[in-house]
Amino acid sequence: MKLIDLARRHAKNFGGITPAIWVVAELAETNYERVVAGMHDASRDVVARTAVLAKRYQRGEPLQYLLGHWSFRELDLVTDVRALIPRPETETLVDIALELVGTRGGAVAADLGTGTGAIGISLAASGKFSLVYMTDASAEALSLAAENVQRNIRVVKGAVFLSRGSWFSALPDSAKGRVDLVASNPPYIPSAAISSLDERVLFEPRSALDGGPSGMNCLFQILSGAPDYLRRGGSVVLEMGEEQAEVLAEVASSFGYEKISVRPDPAGSPRFFTARWTG
Ligand SMILES: C[S@@+](CC[C@H](N)C(=O)[O-])C[C@H]1O[C@@H](n2cnc3c(N)ncnc32)[C@H](O)[C@@H]1O
Repeated sequence: MKLIDLARRHAKNFGGITPAIWVVAELAETNYERVVAGMHDASRDVVARTAVLAKRYQRGEPLQYLLGHWSFRELDLVTDVRALIPRPETETLVDIALELVGTRGGAVAADLGTGTGAIGISLAASGKFSLVYMTDASAEALSLAAENVQRNIRVVKGAVFLSRGSWFSALPDSAKGRVDLVASNPPYIPSAAISSLDERVLFEPRSALDGGPSGMNCLFQILSGAPDYLRRGGSVVLEMGEEQAEVLAEVASSFGYEKISVRPDPAGSPRFFTARWTG
């Protein structure tokens, strides 16, 4: 049997022919195009392992965990249960972050709650930063981020510094007043809403999702801690739930932030918050 026939046989089990081709290509260590072109026979080993992954997918495990890696911008990131799967809309957060920093080189960024490292490594790959701090409270997430830094080391420019701790407590004192950009996609889902999320999302770490009773605990903590670390004129960019924009803007204004704005994701929903700290 050809790999493409194996993929066709499992198309329903993986929710479509395209993901089924990704899976068999991954297992057979080839690529999508070669499978479609009918270039390979399926070994017994691949047939058996495809059946195992089909079962796991049917039990609700996300495709990105089954494949073990996923793309984010130009990066290829290892994805497993240690961290949240990077979402396509977070690529927009990186675009906004790079826009906020402008053309000035040698900037310093902090990616708080780095997970797979998607945001921090993308910033480091831009060449705009001499230093990117990547932090997480989860030791598991941080170990995955470290693997992803190594995996993408050829595109990383400048230094990256990985450290564990809750939000700003993970940063060294020497970072105080020197950070140009704080970027974060923190947990922002209200605790009570977690159980009604899609079953595949529930495979992801709860600590990456749960933002407390209102969903906004982490967003507020980051906004309140950032002024100690931002240099004058530095920016914050945060991913948030669309219904959180108004309250976040009010709170930021009461903390003394300026140039507050809310930006849409590619679908037009208000999902990104930015503000400047002018001291
Ligand atoms: C929504 S995930 C985002 C992961 C990654 N930045 C991304 O965009 O794909 C939130 C991350 O924040 C981390 N986190 C949760 N609470 C934290 C805290 N108090 N301090 C630092 N990181 C925290 C989680 O472990 C998780 O990796």
